[in-house]
Amino acid sequence: MYKKLSLKILLTFFLILFSGASITHENIPHNIDRSVADKCVEPTDIMRSQHHIFIKQQSHDTVVKGIRTQKYSLNNCINCHIKPSANGTYPSVKSEEHFCSGCHIAAAAQVECFDCHASKPFKKVVEKVKDSE
Ligand code: HEC
Ligand code: HEC
Ligand code: HEC
Repeated sequence: MYKKLSLKILLTFFLILFSGASITHENIPHNIDRSVADKCVEPTDIMRSQHHIFIKQQSHDTVVKGIRTQKYSLNNCINCHIKPSANGTYPSVKSEEHFCSGCHIAAAAQVECFDCHASKPFKKVVEKVKDSE
């Protein structure tokens, strides 16, 4: 409880310190789990501008046409991008620490996918990370 609170205070302090003129995309912590892989499913600049198009297409293909593939699957994004914090828990989708939300909050993008979809990887990913340490 106190740990969580002090973490929040620290985060707030960090945000205040780095807010204002210095909020650019480069300042957003990417929080990428590099122990899983070091490349995205497309080049980074393409992902930055078109990731929403890829996932929405994937959603349509799966839900409407019944085609299921892994590359643009939302679980695939989450498994690679969402890394556990120092205390072993995953950042909440409401937190700036969450790879996707960090940018969506900064860009004021409304993304409601995580009302239904998991915003955190499954446990086996954590175990994999721990094993490799
Ligand atoms: C009301 C609940 C709900 C919301 C909100 C929602 N989805 Fe889905 N989504 C589903 C369900 C149910 C499926 C089918 C699950 C399956 O068969 O895997 C699905 C399937 C998908 C798939 C295909 C499975 C995969 O991951 O490859 C994608 C991609 C996807 N949704 C993306 C999105 C995106 C992007 C948003 C936000 C713009 C979104 N969804 C919002 C319920 C939802
Ligand atoms: C195998 C791991 C992996 C998977 C899977 C993956 N990514 Fe990435 N992604 C990366 C890496 C590594 C980068 C490069 C980040 C950097 O250079 O800081 C990246 C970059 C990005 C960026 C650009 C970030 C920026 O710096 O502007 C976005 C957006 C993104 N990914 C979204 C997604 C989405 C959406 C999915 C699922 C369709 C996905 N990624 C799947 C590893 C992954
Ligand atoms: C580099 C910043 C950045 C990162 C990182 C990022 N996004 Fe986005 N995302 C945006 C922006 C900006 C928009 C609004 C794009 C638009 O509407 O033209 C957006 C829109 C979306 C949408 C469309 C929402 C809708 O309802 O239309 C989805 C889905 C989405 N992002 C998923 C993700 C997922 C999943 C991740 C993490 C794996 C992620 N994004 C990471 C910047 C980012």
